[in-house]
Amino acid sequence: MTIRHFLTLKDMTPAELQQLLKRGIELKALHRAGKAHAPLQHKTLAMIFEKSSTRTRISFEAGMAQLGGHALFLSPNDTQLGRGEPIEDSARVISSMVDAIMIRTFEHEIVEAMAEHSRVPIINGLTDDYHPCQLLADMQTYHEHRGSIQGKTVVWVGDGNNMCQSYINAAKQYDFNLRIACPAGYGPKKELVHANSDRVEIIRDPIEAARGADLIATDVWASMGQEEEQRMRRRAFIDYQVTEAVMQQANKDALFMHCLPAHRGEEVAAEVIDGTQSVVWDEAENRLHAQKALLEFLMARN
Ligand code: CP
Ligand code: NVA
Repeated sequence: MTIRHFLTLKDMTPAELQQLLKRGIELKALHRAGKAHAPLQHKTLAMIFEKSSTRTRISFEAGMAQLGGHALFLSPNDTQLGRGEPIEDSARVISSMVDAIMIRTFEHEIVEAMAEHSRVPIINGLTDDYHPCQLLADMQTYHEHRGSIQGKTVVWVGDGNNMCQSYINAAKQYDFNLRIACPAGYGPKKELVHANSDRVEIIRDPIEAARGADLIATDVWASMGQEEEQRMRRRAFIDYQVTEAVMQQANKDALFMHCLPAHRGEEVAAEVIDGTQSVVWDEAENRLHAQKALLEFLMARN
């Protein structure tokens, strides 16, 4: 069987993504009912983290344990990755001993190089360009609260970062309209916007963009790796906070999402993230259930 990787949402068909969403909901119900489901016995997931993580690490590690398998945390500080062993060599070696590899890193090309040289599935646990696992959880969360997202209007407020670019892919794969309110100079890749121009639109003003929205999502102004730009970004993004005023433009039953960690008073007002339209805690929990569906899909078939 050919190896399947999950580097972006485009690695799955829309039908497969719907299947994963449904499975995530089923696995959540099984877990809540205390029913064991262990299709990954004797399977190992290597998890390489070149950036920090709370949710991604815990959800993958707990998820593997719940599925009957094992997860291995690898940090560049304690492996030869941090001492310059080429990614291609590391991919060959690590994939000869485990059943799948999750990697969180900087350049997206690193996960592509891993995939090229790995004999097991590679899962993108976040790169500078994409965070597809988060979108599995976001789409499951929307579905659980409001049903199908098809044809709905989603508004992204803030940086055109890895999350924003994953929302662009999601617009295509889950068939919704996406408005992006980002400051000039901080938008997503132009090619990506152009390639999806039938459903993706840049609207600079968050208030205008939020009109009639079904979902509003945002993320930090400075991502991991951009620590030195923090002060400059704070100035550039000052008008890009999801406030009550922004939420009021949206439909009455609109939801608010944030992949977390959040900075209250920067990209989101405390009243919004801690308010009644916010589903951020379900969204975080769903990382576990959605990724268990992903692990089962990628690993149980080998
Ligand atoms: N949302 C997310 O990926 O969180 P972590 O950085 O804690 O993994
Ligand atoms: N855009 C953020 C997401 C963190 C989960 C970052 O890359 O740091």
